[in-house]
Amino acid sequence: MVRTLAIETSCDDTSVAIVSHDAGNFSVEHLQSFSQIDLHQHYGGIVPEIAYRSHAEKIVPLLASLWWKAILPTLDCISVTASPGLPGALVVGITSAYSLQAVSGLPVIEVDHIMGHVFSVLLERSREELALPYVCLTVSGGHNDIYLVQDKDASHTEWETQALRHKKGHMSVWSSHIVWPFRVTKLAQTMDDAAGEVFDKVARMLDGPYPGGAWIGEQAKLGSADPARTFHVAAHHDPSGLFSFSGIKGQVHQRIQQWVSTHGELATDIKHAIAYGFQEAVVDALAKKLVYWADRCSAKTIWLVGGVSANQRLRVVLQQHLEKNNKTHIPCLLPTQFVYCTDNAAMIGACGLVMQMTK
Ligand code: KG4
Ligand code: ZN
Repeated sequence: MVRTLAIETSCDDTSVAIVSHDAGNFSVEHLQSFSQIDLHQHYGGIVPEIAYRSHAEKIVPLLASLWWKAILPTLDCISVTASPGLPGALVVGITSAYSLQAVSGLPVIEVDHIMGHVFSVLLERSREELALPYVCLTVSGGHNDIYLVQDKDASHTEWETQALRHKKGHMSVWSSHIVWPFRVTKLAQTMDDAAGEVFDKVARMLDGPYPGGAWIGEQAKLGSADPARTFHVAAHHDPSGLFSFSGIKGQVHQRIQQWVSTHGELATDIKHAIAYGFQEAVVDALAKKLVYWADRCSAKTIWLVGGVSANQRLRVVLQQHLEKNNKTHIPCLLPTQFVYCTDNAAMIGACGLVMQMTK
């Protein structure tokens, strides 16, 4: 059995956890988080300075409660999110991890936040339940990627070699990573905004709350297809290419301006129609690319992780794309609890243990 204390402070959640691994099972022994949403809501987005100060204020009390429960000698390592994220926010977690190392002598495992999301699917599940290969859409306010996770010894397919060659130089992290019995390869990422980010920005244009993803979903349920309010995701015609969600913000903005200049304030039914058209375009782009890669990689499972995976329409549209491609035998799954989908330290612990076992 191996156990880790895990710390996540990359964005607007201060989170600590204790995760253990035994014979293929990853258990979450403790998980405590503080969400900063109430602090940022008023500003309509994350204010880095507020985020840093809040992490600094919350991390010690959160760790103090876990540290003693952890029974120090039973821990094998400390896992901490090292990147990507807000620099000042990451520094709080990293400094805490190395301070704990100074008093305990435990090794620190620096975890990539997105890899944490990719391995969140392991939590509270046995290794046998995890059918390989799987593709995983990690989609939130800050990131928007598709990864392939396969057995580390699986042969490199022709497309994988081609994709890596083609994409090298274009993006920073296209190479495959071997961690424990897995090989992880990035298949797609956004070239600009993440889907959650545009949900939040469009919600703001429609006078909705922050974060706005769930609100847009509710507004869209009250709307329906309207030819005057359809939107397009750039480069959507190429299912193997990169995501791009920046352009759709401009389209929504333009339609709102057109309406306001001729009719005055936005009518409620127009807001509903815009939310509907916008959500359809975004979830269709996500689902289409995901099914393309699941098919191409002969995936046994599709996983959805990150805040946007809460979107119910995304799951429906994904199912429709699977039906259209005769791939309904591929199950679409979410981590065992929704708290493991959004930013949390338990997923950092799972990834840290996977990395520890690679050593
Ligand atoms: O993973 P997360 O909690 O935090 C990070 O951004 O890292 O994801 C939050 C994002 C926000 O952009 C929020 O608007 C979006 O997930 N979100 C949704 C829904 N619920 C949350 N987007 C679309 N539909 C939803 N139901
Ligand atoms: Zn995240």
